[in-house]
Amino acid sequence: MRLPAPCGPLSEGVVETLRARPAGPHAVPEPRAMGDVTYPLTDRDFQLALWILYELHYRGFEDVEDPGAEWDPLLMVSRAALERTFEHAVRRLVGEASQDAPALADLGDTPAAQVTAALVRMTARSGPSEVAQFLHRRATREEFRAYLAERAVYHLRESDPQSFVLPRIGGAAKVALAELQYDEYGGGRPDRLHQALFARALASLDLPTDLAPYVERATGATLASVNLMSLFALNRRLRGAAMGHLAAFEATSSLPCERILRGARRLDLPEAVQDYYDEHVEADAVHEQLAIRGICAALVEDEPDLAPDVVLGATACLAVDGLAGEVLLDGWHGRRDARAAG
Ligand SMILES: [Fe+2]
Ligand SMILES: [Fe+2]
Repeated sequence: MRLPAPCGPLSEGVVETLRARPAGPHAVPEPRAMGDVTYPLTDRDFQLALWILYELHYRGFEDVEDPGAEWDPLLMVSRAALERTFEHAVRRLVGEASQDAPALADLGDTPAAQVTAALVRMTARSGPSEVAQFLHRRATREEFRAYLAERAVYHLRESDPQSFVLPRIGGAAKVALAELQYDEYGGGRPDRLHQALFARALASLDLPTDLAPYVERATGATLASVNLMSLFALNRRLRGAAMGHLAAFEATSSLPCERILRGARRLDLPEAVQDYYDEHVEADAVHEQLAIRGICAALVEDEPDLAPDVVLGATACLAVDGLAGEVLLDGWHGRRDARAAG
């Protein structure tokens, strides 16, 4: 993949620095424009800059000549500054979203029981998202394709962020996370790798299977939902939040996937699209239990101090993904209204 086109001063600073010759003078991509960012969770320039810096830890860019860019101290300084602003905004949103949530202490006798109850409570309340309902009943083939394109930024790298957490936890939680990841990575079969299933779904609708074109077009909110996983997984101190995020993600996947599958059938979309969602209706019903009880409860049993972080991660997942869903729906409704008016 090549570096994406920057879309503002923050991503421009990062891209310029990465394009600079390895031996040449090397500027800090100074987050000088941070003052202009009013809401980092939907700001595309902000999220793209952070996404590019995170991608150095995943597959990287073919046009970044310096193989040491991943751990370049100056780039780390920029990343840390962006992360601080991002985390602050996430914590604020979580604060608003959990205003009437019961106190953890009221939910059970042990931290493990409290976390389990909190996760079950918040994910059971969320129901199938409006996006899933739209895809189920109303979306056109084009809108369905646009949905897959928007989600591609995550699904072409599906489950990779959580792999960074494996060496950061131990015992039963580690074993359960390894089991979940083994499923996500195809259960020993390269053709069943979930990233590959999603790529096949894209190809069946004549969409590209490489990440670059999707990053170029993804909204700030979608990039934020992906960056959130990297923020939690790449910072050891946030490992509890990473696992809470995973639990909320898995526990709110099976039902929407079932709706989306029905939408794909309604539109008579190719088998490969149906296959991806079909796989997730069953797998994620199992992953939900594995993530809540196998991973999060076990982790908190081991490290009780992580309980509030697990809940923070889960709440952040629902809130930030909800924001990305709203932006997507607004886009669809806006285009429909414009067509109706024109
Ligand atoms: Fe998956
Ligand atoms: Fe899953």
